[in-house]
Amino acid sequence: MPQAVTILGIESSCDDTAAALVRVGANGHASVLSSVVADQTDLHAAFGGVVPEIAARAHAEKLDLCIEQALIKGKMQLSDIDAIAVTAGPGLIGGVISGVMCAKGLSLATGKPLYGVNHLAGHALTPRLTDNVPYPYLMLLVSGGHCQFLIVHGPLKFERLGGTIDDAPGEAFDKIARLIGLSQPGGPAIEHAAKQGDPKRFKFPRPLLDRDGCDMSFSGLKTAVLRTRDAIIAERGGLTGQDQADLADGFQAAVVDVFVEKARRAFQSYPPDASRTLCLAGGVAANHAIRSGLETVAAEQNASFVAPPLSLCTDNAAMIAYAAAEQRGTDDADDLTLSARPRWPLDTSQPAMLGSGKKGAKA
Ligand code: KG4
Ligand code: ZN
Repeated sequence: MPQAVTILGIESSCDDTAAALVRVGANGHASVLSSVVADQTDLHAAFGGVVPEIAARAHAEKLDLCIEQALIKGKMQLSDIDAIAVTAGPGLIGGVISGVMCAKGLSLATGKPLYGVNHLAGHALTPRLTDNVPYPYLMLLVSGGHCQFLIVHGPLKFERLGGTIDDAPGEAFDKIARLIGLSQPGGPAIEHAAKQGDPKRFKFPRPLLDRDGCDMSFSGLKTAVLRTRDAIIAERGGLTGQDQADLADGFQAAVVDVFVEKARRAFQSYPPDASRTLCLAGGVAANHAIRSGLETVAAEQNASFVAPPLSLCTDNAAMIAYAAAEQRGTDDADDLTLSARPRWPLDTSQPAMLGSGKKGAKA
């Protein structure tokens, strides 16, 4: 990164409308000057999932307000920034188009260069934004819509070691919470209930541990929890609080075991002479059992462990601004032909993963 830059980031690929200002110094150190996130949880609550049309309309209504707030909080004007970065995919296409159109308008009006950023690259580069982690590093990206192990070699160079072949883990946490009568979002509700649970009462499967590599599956685990729930209800007419806690804990323990074992396998594919850091990102990275499981693997593997703060793990625009700052050094700016992409794999050398998360197509 040759000189200090300040970048306005815009994110609208799912159900969070976000804008942020990030400054990256000539030494590569980044600071988040402001980060504004307007979530749409209330708008979608009645539908049991994100409704793409409602999301797109809400983004179109909120983007300018979020950008204005980000500028005010960062004490800057549009004329002070060096570039505009926007999520150009993957995600729900209507929302991505809202952000891309807004960014193009700003770029045209201000003459500032425009950068279309891969949302997943934003997540994957966050450990550099927060902790300046050196390349390469190992990353587990886990959220409501994504799940993959990556080796991050550079701002535009990602090697996918494996990912989910069906549901994303956050999606599974949310569905299981609904099945056993806990609130949404399901991840925090399951984690909370699991504190009172016995993880050994129910024997849930650890899918794909019998298969080499880092691919994962969560849909069979979800079905196993559903069957157990149904059996308890058939026998006793309902679930007690203890049943809920034991189901939640059993499910969470299975997810942790899968991540731990697959992380060990990911290290087997990691260059032995490279610097060793295991990083976690995405909303599911908030889970303490998952964090501590992966921290243990990192220690075993003589690697450092980095999990960014939750506000930068979940969807935000600071990660988009930062990714553009890094990519600026190696890639040309986009122009007004930039288009929104519903799918955009990070590692294009490998076939696309199957499955579609509740928040849009997986890449
Ligand atoms: O990254 P994110 O905010 O949005 C996208 O999916 O892109 O992730 C949201 C997901 C939800 O499915 C939520 O249930 C899950 O992250 N989550 C958690 C926890 N907190 C949030 N999952 C497990 N444990 C948690 N503590
Ligand atoms: Zn995301």
